[in-house]
Amino acid sequence: MNTEPNSPLGVFDSGVGGLTVVRALRELLPNESIIYLGDTARVPYGSKSPDTIRRFSVEDAQFLISRGVKAVIVACNTATAHALPTLEATFRLPIIGVLEPGVEATLADPACQRVGIIGTAGTIRSCAYQHGLAMRRPDLQIHAVATPLLAPFVEEGWVDQPSTKMVLREYLKPLIERGIDTLVLGCTHYPLLVPAIRRVLGQKVRLVDSALTCAAHVKVRLEALNLLRTAKSKPALEIHLTDLSEQFENLARQFLNADFGKVKKASLV
Ligand code: DGL
Repeated sequence: MNTEPNSPLGVFDSGVGGLTVVRALRELLPNESIIYLGDTARVPYGSKSPDTIRRFSVEDAQFLISRGVKAVIVACNTATAHALPTLEATFRLPIIGVLEPGVEATLADPACQRVGIIGTAGTIRSCAYQHGLAMRRPDLQIHAVATPLLAPFVEEGWVDQPSTKMVLREYLKPLIERGIDTLVLGCTHYPLLVPAIRRVLGQKVRLVDSALTCAAHVKVRLEALNLLRTAKSKPALEIHLTDLSEQFENLARQFLNADFGKVKKASLV
């Protein structure tokens, strides 16, 4: 366990999606340094088996821990759904996932009745959201749809292309037909698709993005453990990718609007 408050936070995802969590962390905890790992060589995780997702997640966390992080944020729903207990059992430092915050953010509006969930095939198959929601609100009508093409579209930077909307229309059709009032964006890549989702779904349906609630969870954990960064120097932001990608860098610069220097190539061993 690293008890040095001035150490960075470690955040990982299969690719660009976890940057939605980084953005929320920087908003809520602007004094924290962050090391981000995107496993771009092996994205997408959503179509892999639970065993493979667990193995990848342990390697990702190991990489961050070897760089001296004080906590690991699993900024990937697929990895959270399949690997969180393994990570918690393997490493002795705070590990925070996005699923529980997602459930909490969904239930924050007590008026919700018909909830749609979209996520990778792995996340939807795990039933983690469905169980998390049903356990606390057994009266909810829950409709979950696997939307495996969406993360690759986002990785490609195709966030608002006509083809993206075509795919979204197809995926969201059964949810629109069921009259959902809330849509859980059960993959950290999907907040990048919000303008396109809005165009297909309209303005009335509430969209739930777990990034901010996840950042709030991180804040509470750091406060409780006296791990909030106290240094007065400018916090650092480092990005490591298992496969360097210009596409990723462009998206990251647009999306984060922050200086993260040169993206580094990570090798996970
Ligand atoms: N961003 C990831 C998630 O939240 C997964 C995308 C993928 O690699 O399939 O599930």
